[in-house]
Amino acid sequence: MRIDKFLADNSIGTRKEIKAIIKAGRILVNDKQVSDPGMHIDPEKDEVICDGSVITYERFHYYMLNKPAGVVSSTREGASVTVVELLSDEGVKNLSPIGRLDKDTVGLLLLTDDGALLHDLISPSKHVGKEYLVVPEHSLTDDDLKKLEEGVDIGDDKPTIPAKAHMEEDGLHLIIYEGRFHQVKRMLEAVGNKVTYLKRLKMGELSLDPDLGEGEYRKLTLEELELIKN
Ligand code: URA
Repeated sequence: MRIDKFLADNSIGTRKEIKAIIKAGRILVNDKQVSDPGMHIDPEKDEVICDGSVITYERFHYYMLNKPAGVVSSTREGASVTVVELLSDEGVKNLSPIGRLDKDTVGLLLLTDDGALLHDLISPSKHVGKEYLVVPEHSLTDDDLKKLEEGVDIGDDKPTIPAKAHMEEDGLHLIIYEGRFHQVKRMLEAVGNKVTYLKRLKMGELSLDPDLGEGEYRKLTLEELELIKN
């Protein structure tokens, strides 16, 4: 692999910045200063150092974002800011969100350039649990909770598959195992209610880091990556 590609894959900078970094003599490969951006290295064996720090090769990138309201998950909605744009400083190409959240929904959104994992996690057959905090317009009865858990008609061919629903101090905690369009909002409508605030708290076993403010993101830890890969 070319050293400039290796450095770009590891978010050291854009190709142009990397050229300048190499020219400035800031990159060492096996203790020798690099001058040629086209030099070939073996990412598994060679030791690459940038400004004194060893760079461990990362083929793919995985981030957790606390999505703020007003930002869209897709890349196609004209004038709106997209979640991918929030991570543009990372300089990672081909990042995509793993699943979508509505523009007004906040909370846990994962982004990656690992196409295989992306495909796996959004596959409907995987039934990955997604936990939401819902603030409903008015309070829910035990009967409403039971209906949400058993499955409700939201106007599709089939009712929703069994979910988990319980009330906590901050609102309704709803875990769904599908990802239909506006699913939580439509489920609340199906029991005569309305969502006034929606936040995703968990995907599978992975929880939103409570230290991330809205709009903040960070890389997943290795432990977190294991949690979602399993
Ligand atoms: N369900 C919704 O209605 N909206 C979301 O953003 C996520 C789940």
